[in-house]
Amino acid sequence: MEKSSTGAGSTEVRTAQQQDSLTIVDNRTGKRYDLPITNGCIRAMDLRKIKVEDGDFGLMSYDPAFLNTASCISKITLIDGDLGILRYRGYPIEVLAEKSTYLETAYLLIHGELPNRSQLSDWTYHITHHTFIHESIKKFLDGFHYDAHPMSMLISTIAALSTFYPESKSIFSAESRKKQTYRLLGKLPTIAAFAYRHSLGLPFVYPDNDLSYTGNFLNMLFKTTELKYHPNPTLERALDILFILHADHEQNCSTSAMRGVGSSQSDPYCSTAAACAALYGPLHGGANEAVLRMLMEIGSVQKVPEYIKRVKGGEVKLMGFGHRVYKNYDPRAKIIKRAAYEVFDIMGRNPLLDIALEVERIALEDDYFVSRKLYPNVDFYSGLIYQSMGLPVTMFPVLFAIGRMAGWISQWEEMLLDPEQKIARPRQVYLGYGQRDYIPIDDRV
Ligand code: ACO
Repeated sequence: MEKSSTGAGSTEVRTAQQQDSLTIVDNRTGKRYDLPITNGCIRAMDLRKIKVEDGDFGLMSYDPAFLNTASCISKITLIDGDLGILRYRGYPIEVLAEKSTYLETAYLLIHGELPNRSQLSDWTYHITHHTFIHESIKKFLDGFHYDAHPMSMLISTIAALSTFYPESKSIFSAESRKKQTYRLLGKLPTIAAFAYRHSLGLPFVYPDNDLSYTGNFLNMLFKTTELKYHPNPTLERALDILFILHADHEQNCSTSAMRGVGSSQSDPYCSTAAACAALYGPLHGGANEAVLRMLMEIGSVQKVPEYIKRVKGGEVKLMGFGHRVYKNYDPRAKIIKRAAYEVFDIMGRNPLLDIALEVERIALEDDYFVSRKLYPNVDFYSGLIYQSMGLPVTMFPVLFAIGRMAGWISQWEEMLLDPEQKIARPRQVYLGYGQRDYIPIDDRV
């Protein structure tokens, strides 16, 4: 008789096909196993019951880059890549981009519900009153070379915050987490703006608490000799929308880094520094910078077909195109494209826009991109907006990090409070040498 095992370790024998279960026949042994299916998943640990002999380790699944592995149960963000849907806590991104503000969206992500009036004003008050950074951090920033990449400055400075707030190690204290949340959301734009000013050799501009979150950020970036900085409302709103669009994106590379590092119970500043480091790469948050560099390299509309040829030849990638999850379109790209035109109306048309539009037009018609379901992602247009606002390309991933902070905090907290989570520690398939004898150096070839 065939022996089967059911999910949680029982060895009961089943003959009938059970619903919501997966029957696996191990052809090495002929044994059958019924594994329960919950929420569209089998538990990878259930595979470990599949063994040839009792002493075996059991079966594992091999999934480089986690293409098909759910690492957590989450209630924060839903993405349906086929339908082009993105929702935070159930609210469509299009609605939030139209009606919400970044701080309200951050509250929603972190607390699970939209705030009422008094909750929002309390939340805004506390974040606004945590925007100043310790004077020693200024000295720290001054130590960087003038041409240091602002993302590297951001990563190091966020890690350094951990030395200023040692109590942040109390990660299981709700009160402490709340305080670090205010600090992270409040201080990130200040550090980002200071890093920018440092690269220009300009004096730092202190936060102005009369202004909105985004308005104050623009103030810290761009204020010069005027007594009071008045942000342009269209630019302020466009940047706020960009922060909303970037606020969370479920288990992407940087969020997984935040959860992974946080799972060892390090403090939130160190986890955030790790998340920022993951975001920095050109395949993730560094893509907006890479898009601009690509558009500049292409140089003119006439040269677009030649560049597309190189992409199709596998020589280069079309930056700002493609997404691990969206295989239809990235709903954020649509919203950003609209915001871009509003910014261009004020700041003048970005000369790279025509090249971007031609790249998009050709790629959307070309079978190479269509068959691989490669569409413009959020980063294809965000860089054009940032550049039109007068920001250098090196600041683009930094702006992404400011928006993503809300998502990182909410995902980190969800991970900490999830009783099923433990320190993140994947397995490997070892295909290296077996035991070898050590060869003295004189005997080596
Ligand atoms: N340009 C050209 N070809 C591409 C691109 C691209 N941008 N993206 C994917 N492809 C091709 C791959 O070469 C592959 O072709 P093949 O089947 O002939 O081998 C096929 O499309 C599938 O691509 P994968 O690499 O399997 O897709 P994956 O899901 O691993 O990668 C990623 C997703 C990293 C975003 C990729 O599309 C990419 O590198 N894009 C450019 C960088 C970028 O814009 N990143 C930003 C992502 S959004 C964000 O992080 C906010």
